[in-house]
Amino acid sequence: MPVSDQSPRIFAIANQKGGVGKTTTSINLATSLAAVGKRVLLIDMDAQGNASTGLGVKRSERENSSYNLLFGEKMVEECVVGTKVPRLSIIPSSMHLSGAEVELVTAPNREFLMQQALQHIENKYDYVVIDCPPALNLTTLNILVASDAVIVPLQCEFYALEGLAHLTKTIDRVRSSFNPRLELHGVVLTMFDVRNRLSSMVANDVRGYFGDKVYQTVIPRNERVSEAPSYGLPAIVYDMRCAGSQAYIQLAKEVIKREKSILQNERAVA
Ligand SMILES: Nc1ncnc2c1ncn2[C@@H]1O[C@H](COP(=O)(O)OP(=O)(O)O)[C@@H](O)[C@H]1O
Ligand SMILES: [Mg+2]
Repeated sequence: MPVSDQSPRIFAIANQKGGVGKTTTSINLATSLAAVGKRVLLIDMDAQGNASTGLGVKRSERENSSYNLLFGEKMVEECVVGTKVPRLSIIPSSMHLSGAEVELVTAPNREFLMQQALQHIENKYDYVVIDCPPALNLTTLNILVASDAVIVPLQCEFYALEGLAHLTKTIDRVRSSFNPRLELHGVVLTMFDVRNRLSSMVANDVRGYFGDKVYQTVIPRNERVSEAPSYGLPAIVYDMRCAGSQAYIQLAKEVIKREKSILQNERAVA
């Protein structure tokens, strides 16, 4: 699908490992994209609902959730909840999502439910950012089939690269079997600790393995970033000046820049 002003670009924030910064990246990248003027919809697809909580969505506002969206029970517009951030909306998740795997196994067209749900998404959004669960399961497969590109957060720790071959193979398989437009948008290094030599070693290894696909922007480990969700606020709103917020704003700019070069390449091919 060409990048256009009309159809929103859909990003999956994925890594089957838990605790690597998917939700933090989803919230703060979505907020930063909104801050630079883009219209953004965040979809919380993790049953834990951390993205919903982190954006201050109350339980009472979660009646229509991403679970209802996935199973075609509700339309996008019926599930959308506003946030305190101008231009940023969210579709919250619910605990029902934890049962989705079992239900998906026997669902007709089980890989395409999310794609169908987002098919008629209004041109109200420039970007849709989807926070994935920590698994390469049918829910994540549905998200990848519905997405244009995958952004992979990688925590700068010893086992960072473990399991990544499985993730990239899954992306390749989705591209060849279900969704030819899916691409790896980039890898973002998270929780980088300048005082820890291991962080730099891991960052070098990851750049050696993924080359240009690794964003120049590195997200530092930053206490303010981890505090923000307990106030129901993105770090960018909680403390815009902290190093973590500044890094996410930088990441958003880099993502938009990469989007422009993708658009140029598509035009060159057309
Ligand atoms: N840049 C950061 N600095 C400090 N803590 C972070 C940072 N990014 C994430 N965290 C913390 O690490 C934990 C895991 O992050 P999270 O985004 O929830 O990962 P995932 O969604 O992949 O499970 C959370 O407690 C979060 O607050
Ligand atoms: Mg998460």
